[in-house]
Amino acid sequence: MAFQVALNFEDGITRFIECRPGETIADASYKARINIPLDCRDGACGTCKSLCESGRYDGGDYIDEALTEDEAALGYCLPCQMTPHSDLVLRIPSTSAAAKTAVASHSATLADIQRHSPTTVGFTLDVDDREALDFLPGQYVNITVPGTDQTRSYSFSSGPNQHQASFLVRLTEGGAMSGYLAERAQVGDRLEFTGPMGSFYLRDLTRPALLLAGGTGLAPLLSMLERLAQAPVEQPVHLLYGVTTDQDLVHLDTLEDYTKVIKGFTFDHCVADPSSSARNKGFVTALMDSGTLHDGDVDVYLCGPPAMVDAVRGHIASLGVTPASFHYEKFTPVAVREAVEAA
Ligand code: FES
Repeated sequence: MAFQVALNFEDGITRFIECRPGETIADASYKARINIPLDCRDGACGTCKSLCESGRYDGGDYIDEALTEDEAALGYCLPCQMTPHSDLVLRIPSTSAAAKTAVASHSATLADIQRHSPTTVGFTLDVDDREALDFLPGQYVNITVPGTDQTRSYSFSSGPNQHQASFLVRLTEGGAMSGYLAERAQVGDRLEFTGPMGSFYLRDLTRPALLLAGGTGLAPLLSMLERLAQAPVEQPVHLLYGVTTDQDLVHLDTLEDYTKVIKGFTFDHCVADPSSSARNKGFVTALMDSGTLHDGDVDVYLCGPPAMVDAVRGHIASLGVTPASFHYEKFTPVAVREAVEAA
């Protein structure tokens, strides 16, 4: 049985390789024609030093000059020496171009359009070679809008193990994908996309998690929940979902379903519009206190528009709490993304 290893490059591109037990990551990368940084291949120079963000492995033999004890304790590793004991996620210190690889391209057929409300649409793709599409829950792809040469970035709302790939779109006036979905899209249309990309993805859950979604920023968090539904979760996971108007509220039934299959999962939502019928009116920050943040013993995942990301960061700082990890992704209606991790 081979393990799946995600190689995340500095330019946000992720490539997946198969690595057999006992095989080094360097050898498996070489077989996949991906030139990760290497020099001595002997655990002596440290050129290949990478960060393992998820999974278990045997670090192999190396000298302290290549990797110190402190670095190893932080999760740094040497792909020329390490062998996997599980699937892994590695952050590689080079660009994909330097590693002589590139983002993967995929073709798909539009299988379904879900018109959730006047503001929000979901769509589902049958990917031609689904086996060739791997991604981490939370990542996104760049989809070419049919009939145009424009691309838009969308996070998967489906999980990595689900056969169909799903996405969530907020309709915007004059938007390329909005216009396509509102006016021209037909089941059976052909679509092209590239990816996966992005460093906003779910890490191993070793402490409580707080998931924060603004509008269609819910999509990557749904993908994370789908992953959590596949494996026993020992940590509490709470999701706060904020939108502007009642029409923007989607997938509440999906979230409700996840409370039944993910042990320890709870969620709440709020609507900014004062005339909303929602129980909580206002912003997600009103639902966050030091208890929600487990006094800092929490991994925070936040996906939403820039104003929300900034407001949440400011609110957490005002509470005097520093989360153990803070992963966030800012998105705008066009293909501009900024994914950041702050420890
Ligand atoms: Fe020298 Fe890995 S290539 S330590």
